[in-house]
Amino acid sequence: MRRKFVVGNWKMHKGPQEADALAEALKKALAGRDATVDVGVAPPFVSLPAVVSRLKHTGIVVAAQNLHAEQQGAYTGEVSSEMLRQVGVAYCLVGHSERRQLFGETDASVARKVGACFRSGLLPILCVGETLAEREAGQEAAVVTRQLDAALGALGADQVPSVTIAYEPVWAIGTGKTATPLQAQDMHATIRGWLEAKFPAFVAKSTRIQYGGSVKGNNAAELMRMPDIDGALVGGASLNAEEFLAIIAGAATASGG
Ligand code: PGA
Repeated sequence: MRRKFVVGNWKMHKGPQEADALAEALKKALAGRDATVDVGVAPPFVSLPAVVSRLKHTGIVVAAQNLHAEQQGAYTGEVSSEMLRQVGVAYCLVGHSERRQLFGETDASVARKVGACFRSGLLPILCVGETLAEREAGQEAAVVTRQLDAALGALGADQVPSVTIAYEPVWAIGTGKTATPLQAQDMHATIRGWLEAKFPAFVAKSTRIQYGGSVKGNNAAELMRMPDIDGALVGGASLNAEEFLAIIAGAATASGG
C-alpha cells in the first residue's frame, strides 16, 4: 500500500524566523498523531537549517525547492545536492512548473537535477504538468509523458520508487482552479500506466503520485480518495498551519484513517 504523502511548498515565503514558527506549529499539532499520512515541508534555502533543526525526530520531512545539477563549482547563486544533504534535507523538488516557466528549466536540466539528487541520497519530488494551452489542444498526456521520459526514463527500476511524482496542471497552480478529482485521476492513471509500461510491476505499484494545484482543506479528501492520487503538493494553503493541517486530515480521511 502507498501511504499518502502531503508536502507544503512554501515557495518564496517565510524567512528563518517565520519558517521556524510555522514548523513549530506543525510539530505541536502533529505530535503523537497516529501517523497514517507522511508529511513534509519545503521552505526556501535560507530557512532550511532552522526548519530541519525544529523538525528533528518529528517524522515531518524537509525538502528543498530546487538544486543545481553540479556538486560544486563556479555557479554563482546556486546550491548543490551535496550542500543540501549536509544541511540535513531529505527531499528536493525538481522541475516545478515555476522553475520551468520563469527560470528556463528544460526537460534536460530537470533530468540532470534528478541525477544529482540520487548522487547525494536526496529523494526527488519530480513535478510534471501541462499548461492550459496544452490541455486545450488535447496534448496533456503527451506533454506529461515527454516530461516523464526525460526525467525518469533512464533510471533503474530500483531507483524509481524513491521518486515522488507530483502531477501539477499549470492552470491549477495558484489560480484557485483545481482539477476535478476525475480529471486528476485520469492523468494519474496515465502516469501510472507509463510506469507500468517502462518498469517491472512493483515500480508502478509502489511509486507515489501527488496531485498539486489549488489543494485546500475542503477539496483534499475527495482528491486523495481517487485510487491513483497518493498525496498532495500544496502551495498557498501550506503557508497557514490550520489550512495545511486540514489537508493532512483530509489525506487521513481518504486513507481510511
Ligand atoms: P498552489 O500551488 O497550491 O498554491 O496552487 C501548488 C504548487 O505550486 O506546488
